[in-house]
Amino acid sequence: MPHNVKTLGVLGAGQMGGGIAQVAAVAGLTVKVFDSFPGTIDKCKGVHIKSLGKLVEKAKITKDAADAASARISFVDNLENLTGCDWLVEAVVEDVNVKKDLLAKLAAMYPDESVVLATNTSSISITELATAAGKGAHRVVGMHFFNPVPLMQLVEVIPGLQTSPEVVQRTLALATAMGKTPLEASDRAGFISNRVLMPMINEAFYAWMEGVAKPEAIDGIMKLGCNFPMGPLTLADFIGLDTCVNIMNVLADGLNSDRYRACPLLKQLVSAGRMGVKSGRGVYEYPGK
Ligand code: CAA
Repeated sequence: MPHNVKTLGVLGAGQMGGGIAQVAAVAGLTVKVFDSFPGTIDKCKGVHIKSLGKLVEKAKITKDAADAASARISFVDNLENLTGCDWLVEAVVEDVNVKKDLLAKLAAMYPDESVVLATNTSSISITELATAAGKGAHRVVGMHFFNPVPLMQLVEVIPGLQTSPEVVQRTLALATAMGKTPLEASDRAGFISNRVLMPMINEAFYAWMEGVAKPEAIDGIMKLGCNFPMGPLTLADFIGLDTCVNIMNVLADGLNSDRYRACPLLKQLVSAGRMGVKSGRGVYEYPGK
């Protein structure tokens, strides 16, 4: 089934939204990005220049293709100006109320039921988010990209209870057209990716807390011994330690088990403002970030 998308609307110009916009533009779609913070939009434009430049350097795309992709992306800082899209994907903060509020607004702005409302949530229930779209719940679907979006192959596709089979097929087609490999998972807390990844990261924090090994050794052991591209503590810094705690909380509540409780040391670092790369310090220090 064709995805039937010409103009993609992306909500949120952060790391994930910016990456999704870039990948869609490289794939030939017209992309309109909304973010209410002009500073975030400026930062996103800078990231696009750097990221597309690196792809050209590595000969993954030509300079002309990169320029054409940039030209296909436009930005708005007022939601009302996000018009003319035939598919929307939200990548705003991982907060159920913020996402529901936004999805309700989008469903009202786009009454045409052929416009899909996709969410890039990494753990929140699609079924619950979809209720915000009222009778449009069948057009809400999980479309979970991975960081850094231009380099990561997977899109986890998650149908909610109400999502129509047609919307799922179109989502698989769109992800494929964006050069990704889509794989389906059911709407259970953490889906597959975070249900498996986050407990491993959490366990690495427990091992550090208990003094089993220093962070560098924990990461080195997992990197060299299991062939991971980076150790679990480094990866946690990239994801954001606050996001890791939030996802563990979703797993603990959604899967109804204490074995998913966030490690006290992980929570303590977050309380101290050590969020990872984005705050300049998490497990490790990132001077200049
Ligand atoms: N998030 C953000 N940026 C990342 C990143 C991550 N997880 N991993 C790597 N990067 C950045 C690096 O900082 C680097 O940026 P600069 O050039 O600006 O320094 C750039 O990507 C290239 O990194 P490498 O030097 O490692 O280059 P590479 O080409 O050898 O490998 C990679 C790149 C394939 C991304 C590899 O580093 C990798 O596989 N990293 C792990 C990525 C990963 O596990 N992502 C999933 C995170 S979980 C998630 O996104 C879902 C969720 O719900 C939490």
